[in-house]
Amino acid sequence: MSYKQQVATSLHAALQKLEIADFSLEKLEEMLETPPNPQMGDIAFPCFQLAKVLRKAPPQIAAELAGLVKSDYLDKVEAVGPYMNVFLNRSLVTAEVIGTIAKEGSSYGNRSIGQGRNVPIDLSSPNIAKPFSMGHLRSTVIGNAIANILEKHGYRPVRINHLGDWGTQFGKLIVAYKRWGDEEKVRAKPIKELLSLYIKFHEEAEKDESLEEQGREWFKRLEDGDEEARQLWQWFRDESLKEFMKIYKLLGVSFDSTHGEAFYNDKMDRVVRLLEEKDLLVESNGALVVNLDEYEMPPCLIKKSDGATLYATRDLAAALYRHETYDFAKAVYVVGNEQRLHFQQLFRVLEKMGYEWAKEMYHVPFGMMLKDGKKMSTRKGQVVLLEEVLAQAIEDVGKVIDEKNPQLANKEEVARQVGVGAVIFHDLKNFRLNDVNFSWEEMLTFEGETGPYVQYTHARACSLLRKGGYRADTPDIAEGALDSSEAWTVVTLLNAFPDVVDRAREQFDPSQVGKYVVDLAQAFNKYYANVRILAEDEQIKHSRLHLVSAVVTVLREGLRLLGLAAPEEM
Ligand code: ARG
Repeated sequence: MSYKQQVATSLHAALQKLEIADFSLEKLEEMLETPPNPQMGDIAFPCFQLAKVLRKAPPQIAAELAGLVKSDYLDKVEAVGPYMNVFLNRSLVTAEVIGTIAKEGSSYGNRSIGQGRNVPIDLSSPNIAKPFSMGHLRSTVIGNAIANILEKHGYRPVRINHLGDWGTQFGKLIVAYKRWGDEEKVRAKPIKELLSLYIKFHEEAEKDESLEEQGREWFKRLEDGDEEARQLWQWFRDESLKEFMKIYKLLGVSFDSTHGEAFYNDKMDRVVRLLEEKDLLVESNGALVVNLDEYEMPPCLIKKSDGATLYATRDLAAALYRHETYDFAKAVYVVGNEQRLHFQQLFRVLEKMGYEWAKEMYHVPFGMMLKDGKKMSTRKGQVVLLEEVLAQAIEDVGKVIDEKNPQLANKEEVARQVGVGAVIFHDLKNFRLNDVNFSWEEMLTFEGETGPYVQYTHARACSLLRKGGYRADTPDIAEGALDSSEAWTVVTLLNAFPDVVDRAREQFDPSQVGKYVVDLAQAFNKYYANVRILAEDEQIKHSRLHLVSAVVTVLREGLRLLGLAAPEEM
């Protein structure tokens, strides 16, 4: 039981003595606050809500409660105005928090609420034959962290890469390749080459109107299963995916499914039929749409006048498929904020089709990646290619290591872990809906709120354990060894970790964990600066190392949830 729960339990017992049953344990725990300054106690309980039930003034209630609330965990209970303030028995709490973490290790904070149920998470989902954009990077790292967090709470995440591998642009690409393409070049640098073919197509199409028509024809052939068209498409897809895989490998992200949009081609007729049966399709200028007037949304386009299906139709088919395949507890889509309307429409159409489970579908939107205040786009020439960003980060970190720790054993591996970690953390430390300002300095410094800072703190703590000859036995905390305000701050943070992961899961918000590991790293560094951890006295030293070990465990687990490695030396 955490100490907050302990306090809530004794409060609960006290209220029973006053014959009040309106407040559950959970409710009481929620009502507990942290006093503005530590001199006032560790936990405060405001009595305003009780005042209504008891018809007494809050200060009077606070005074009564202060006399009734008792537990081993509490040194002192005081009434201060309308608040009941609690002073914890810090050594007891400290021993308990450290003991729990030592026992549970990386499963500290695990929960079973997911009951092993599936949660498909649509993440990354780049478009074939186009560069992997910053938006896709955001989706990949945010989605991967959400998957890790859900897994910690007993869900089974299914990472799905819903590749953009279908659409009229593939007809154009085939035309361009047949005219100007060079197999060798495509093989060598697929994305770059396919992108320039696509650009060339548009340039030439301005002079030669027949090109657009040919593009449409080739797309039609592709849809009808024409052998040549199919083979080219498959090849473009394979080559592009090979290139994306390099990025995923660096990021340490893998997928359970790479069914892209094309996978749903043969599943579209059924969607249209179901919509028809449910009487939801209406004609509008020759196209078929689902009306969403009652939600004050524009209609959802299902079939164009030429019979072609759309992005939304494929997402409907994908939703049905995921529900049937995974019988999911929730379905999550980590896609940029600019597609908000698309997903609202999608979920409303599913609701209109009568699917209860549509209520458990979540669009998890995120903001843009900006550079110098402008959107980082892949089209406008100011492209920052992701692979180059990662390579640069790794190189820069490598230089720092060469300078500071040239003897380091596996330098390259560590440079990769820290360089990539810097890029991931730079994204995850802010609430996802905020735009991220891409900044090398901010990303790579070993001080401040960065991945390298947290990783470095973790490595420092590991090195303390090595130097001190730490033995991971059952913690036995020597009296007074951890009596300092710096140690107490670390302990309260360690204790808060499960709550932090809870909030991160509820809000699909990895930044809660990102901010938390920075706070813990800062608190630990302050402790390190003010207390001699490797003390002369063997017992005191070992007690302090137990705290250090708990910090290592929680930092490492926090970093893992975010998708970062935690090297032991750097
Ligand atoms: N390929 C799309 C894009 O880059 C993202 C796909 C998101 N997932 C989905 N199920 N619609 O914009």
